[in-house]
Amino acid sequence: MAFRAHNFNAGPAALPLPVLEIAQKELCDFKGSGMSVIEMSHRGKEFDDVNNETNAKVRDLMGISDDYEVLFMPGGASMQFCLIPMNFIREGKSADFINTGSWATKAIKEAKVQKDINVIWDDKEENYIRCPKASEIKVNPDAEYVHICENETIGGIKYFELPECGDVPIIADMSSCIMSEVMDVNKYGMIYAGAQKNIGPSGLALCIIRKDLLERVPENICNFFKYTTHAKNASMYNTPNTWAIYILGLVCDYLKSLGGVPAMEKINREKAKILYDVIDSSDFWRCPVDKASRSIMNVVWRLPSEDLEKKFVAEAKAHNMIGLKGHRSVGGLRASIYNAVPKASVEFLAEFMKEFEKVNG
Ligand SMILES: Cc1ncc(COP(=O)(O)O)c(C=O)c1O
Repeated sequence: MAFRAHNFNAGPAALPLPVLEIAQKELCDFKGSGMSVIEMSHRGKEFDDVNNETNAKVRDLMGISDDYEVLFMPGGASMQFCLIPMNFIREGKSADFINTGSWATKAIKEAKVQKDINVIWDDKEENYIRCPKASEIKVNPDAEYVHICENETIGGIKYFELPECGDVPIIADMSSCIMSEVMDVNKYGMIYAGAQKNIGPSGLALCIIRKDLLERVPENICNFFKYTTHAKNASMYNTPNTWAIYILGLVCDYLKSLGGVPAMEKINREKAKILYDVIDSSDFWRCPVDKASRSIMNVVWRLPSEDLEKKFVAEAKAHNMIGLKGHRSVGGLRASIYNAVPKASVEFLAEFMKEFEKVNG
C-alpha cells in the first residue's frame, strides 16, 4: 500500500484513498478508450457521460430537485465571489452580507467592487468567534439575496441555525463543508463550493442555483460570466476541467458507498468530538471560538505560547501529521478534518495531543 500522511491540510486536502486508486488505475486507459479522461475530447461520448453522471450523482447525494441547476464552473469559489453580484444584483438593487470572518470578508470585498451592498452583521469586534443567531439578523426585505459563508475555514466556525430571510434567497459559500452534513438545499437560493476540500481537486466550483434566479442575469455582461451560459451548455460552454469533474464523480461514488451524506455526517461529528474533547479536557488547550459555532470540519485551537505551537507543528510533522499550522492570518493550530480524513488519523492526532500535554503541560 502507498505511504500516506495523516493529512490535515485545509485545501487542497485529503481525498479518499479508493478514489485515488481508481483514478490511478484508469489513468492510462479510461474504460477501454485507450486514453485517460484528461486526454479525451470533452465533446466525446465518454466524457459527456462522465459529466452527466457526475451531475446526477451530486443531485442524488444532496437531494437536489429539478428547481435547481447544478453547474461545474471554473475559477474556484473566488470567482463565484465576483460572479454572484454581477449576475444576481439587478440595476438599482442591493444585497445583504453577513461577515463571519476571512472568507465572508473576501466575498464582501468583491461584491463592493461592483455594487452598493449592505453588511448587516459583522463580528469584527469579537474577532470572528461565532456565527450569528437567527434572532440577530434583520434582512432588508428588498435585498436581492443574503450572502453567508456557511463554514469559515480559517476561523473554524459554522452556522448552527440559518438566518430568517423570508422571501430573500440565501446564497451560501459551502466550500469547506459541502457534503459534510445533511443540508436542505431548498432553504437556499444558491450554494457554491470550491471542490478542493471535500469533493475533489482545486479550480472547480460546484454551483447549485435555483432556476428562478437565472431570470435576473443581465444581458450586458460577457457570456462567459453569465450563469445562464453555463446552464444552457451543461457546464461545457468552454473546455471544462475534465479531471476535476471526473474526480468529483468518483468522490460521489465513494460517499454513496459509505451510506451517503447522513452516514458521512455521523462520522464527521464523531471525528470532531474526538478533538474537541481533548481541547476541552484541560486549560493547556484553548479553542477561541464560541462553543455553539464550532466547525466540524476545521478545528482551531491555541497553546499557551507561540513557541509551543511551533513545537507542536514540528513534532506532529515528525509523526507524519501534516497541515496543522493555523492560517497565517490568525496563527495558532488547525486540523482540517474533511470527509476524506480517516477517523484513525483523528484518533492518532488526539493521542499525540495527550502525549504532548504530558510532556509540555
Ligand atoms: C470558505 C471558503 N471560501 C472560498 C475559498 C476560496 O476558494 P478558491 O481558492 O477555490 O477560490 C476558500 C478557500 O480556502 C474557502 O475556504
